[in-house]
Amino acid sequence: MNPKRSAVYPGTFDPITNGHQDLVRRAAGIFDRVVIGIAANPGKAPLFPMEQRVELARGVLEELPNVTVIGYAGLTVEFAREQGCGVVIRGLRALSDFEFEFQLANMSRHLAPEVDYVFMTPKEHFTFISSTLVREIALLGGDVSRFVHPTVAEALAKHRT
Ligand SMILES: Nc1ncnc2c1ncn2[C@@H]1O[C@H](COP(=O)(O)OP(=O)(O)OP(=O)(O)O)[C@@H](O)[C@H]1O
Ligand SMILES: [Mg+2]
Repeated sequence: MNPKRSAVYPGTFDPITNGHQDLVRRAAGIFDRVVIGIAANPGKAPLFPMEQRVELARGVLEELPNVTVIGYAGLTVEFAREQGCGVVIRGLRALSDFEFEFQLANMSRHLAPEVDYVFMTPKEHFTFISSTLVREIALLGGDVSRFVHPTVAEALAKHRT
């Protein structure tokens, strides 16, 4: 298979939000295969263990036949290589995402010149959604039902004391 027809969409997905979903749906319409790479990312001290982040994403995206969800540890470009993907997708919500993403893409190009980074923007009303804000709102008892899938909202509710 042509590696440029397969893309990895990497992230922590702690948890997956409607913004992530919007991007995945778009990407699934462009590429033959989209692999959601859920990074272990222990440095970020995720709220949900990796297995649960994978499980939640799988449940939310189950109706997309060309999308698979896989957990990984290590370098994203290595994961892309292992999966036979020649493209990495990243989301841009605002100018504030740009600087970090630009640096990351250029660094990755040094490590793996055969992998291209492609940037996508979500529908306008998803631009303000981040996993961090969703976690904070949920843990403080706020309503996150407009920002995440019901199964994700339920999982977040279980974390409240
Ligand atoms: N609402 C959104 N719209 C478009 N892209 C998004 C959105 N939220 C996250 N992304 C993108 O998805 C990728 C993975 O993001 P990540 O898992 O870090 O989510 P996040 O919402 O930024 O979480 P956190 O707040 O924990 O950093 C990144 O490229 C990020 O820019
Ligand atoms: Mg982020």
